[in-house]
Amino acid sequence: MRLRLQDVTKSFGENRVLRGITFEVGPGEVVALAGENGAGKSTLTRVVSGAGQPDSGQVVIDGEPVTLKNPQAAMARGIEVIYQEFRQNLFPHLTVAENIHVLDRERRFGRVLVSRRRMAREARSALAELGMADIDVSRPVGTFGIAEQQMVEIAKATSHDLRLLILDEPTAALDERESEQLFRQVRRLREQGVSVLYISHRLDEIFELADRVVVLRDGLVALDSPTVRTGPAQVVAAMVGKTVDDFYPKERNTRDEIVLRVRGAGSGATFQGVDLDVRAGEVLGVGGVVGCGRNSLLRALFGLEPLTTGTVEVDGAPVSLRRIQDAIACRIAYITPDRQAEGLCPDMSVEANISLATLRRHTGPVDLVRRGRERAACDEAMSTLRVRAPSPEAAMASLSGGNQQKALFAKWVLTGPRVLLMDEPTRGVDVGAKTEIYRIINQLTADGVAVVLVSSDLPELVAMSDRAVVMRQGRLVAELAGDRLNEQTVLEHALVGAA
Ligand SMILES: Nc1ncnc2c1ncn2[C@@H]1O[C@H](COP(=O)(O)OP(=O)(O)OP(=O)(O)O)[C@@H](O)[C@H]1O
Ligand SMILES: [Mg+2]
Repeated sequence: MRLRLQDVTKSFGENRVLRGITFEVGPGEVVALAGENGAGKSTLTRVVSGAGQPDSGQVVIDGEPVTLKNPQAAMARGIEVIYQEFRQNLFPHLTVAENIHVLDRERRFGRVLVSRRRMAREARSALAELGMADIDVSRPVGTFGIAEQQMVEIAKATSHDLRLLILDEPTAALDERESEQLFRQVRRLREQGVSVLYISHRLDEIFELADRVVVLRDGLVALDSPTVRTGPAQVVAAMVGKTVDDFYPKERNTRDEIVLRVRGAGSGATFQGVDLDVRAGEVLGVGGVVGCGRNSLLRALFGLEPLTTGTVEVDGAPVSLRRIQDAIACRIAYITPDRQAEGLCPDMSVEANISLATLRRHTGPVDLVRRGRERAACDEAMSTLRVRAPSPEAAMASLSGGNQQKALFAKWVLTGPRVLLMDEPTRGVDVGAKTEIYRIINQLTADGVAVVLVSSDLPELVAMSDRAVVMRQGRLVAELAGDRLNEQTVLEHALVGAA
């Protein structure tokens, strides 16, 4: 066995996260690891990667019980991890080529000089294998989008001797095409005998990629079964402890009045000529691949990027969106796909994070009153969305990834928006909590909120939108509704244009 975990336990204070985890990963085997938000998947990852120590139990690698004191000890045994919040591993100011080589340089200490040309060549070939040949390796990593940064990190992990690769929700930031590249890479590694532990909330991926699936629940292994002998419903039941039959509880609430009207919107070379009408209670989906301009469009509608041409109206009134404050003033809310960089303050409490966008509303003559109201609103949001946190005072960084996402969602829902722009709102959220977020979208649309939804999760985009537009190379290329709003058609328009 490449990796064997034997009765591994780990607690954070009173919180007994892992209570006795036992399972194996064979050479050349892809094992999917699933479980609800907060089930302990990332914690387990850190135990195997040397980034955290188990309280008890054993990690056995190639038959040898090991104590991995730090990540370097794990790397020396060929264990690499792409963390859920993966940019922990990247140096934004160094170039792509430098980032891919940082580890190598550390390992071959003694060799001070690294040929820049060779470094660039090797980085290019590592990226080419991932289908990312056109990334400029001389540019600083920080200047790329989240998807490209992730590919750089994966290229870095796979560019040296690997025995076990751990991927913690690697496709959360990727679109269909990039995910496919990643899957190809994973299969190639498997053929070479590399073992892969693959963490994902997306069942379609688990069944497409994994040989076996292991589900964690309440600190224990709730299911360990070959994928060929397992069904999605079984995995979900093991995760949540009950059967779930309605993943997408979509309600149709579209009314006549137009809330958000966009005409001829453009931003430099990023997108041009965008016309949109979003009605009260309507969810307008926006399909397209990474780089098509849809992320920038949402950012521009929130005043985060300049709108160089065009007009925007909210409820019939023209608005000028120069800064975020302009957007907030006309009750536009925005859920960022990049919660680490701009969504949350990791060192502040959950409560402070959730209240941040609404502070104004709680301002009263007496500070105590304000604090009381803030706390009440926050408690309500946390319980509606079932944000799992030890307490509202806990630091944001101590929450599991999916719970951070729910907190981000709560923060904006509390502002009472008229227009809600959502970019990957359920990224990293488990199946149960996703359904909770969909129900909240239903409530918002029932109240007449106009929603714009960008999602790389095609089943979600198709199921939760009333109507969808598709963007390609900065332009709207299709509008789909009714029977034409399906995964196949969205993909066709996003990739190759009108079929
Ligand atoms: N450094 C920490 N300090 C305190 N508690 C922590 C810490 N790291 C994790 N936890 C807690 O451990 C539990 C498991 O978290 P973990 O991140 O492993 O979950 P996960 O299965 O990866 O969830 P997700 O699907 O949301 O990523 C959570 O309750 C979390 O709040
Ligand atoms: Mg996690």
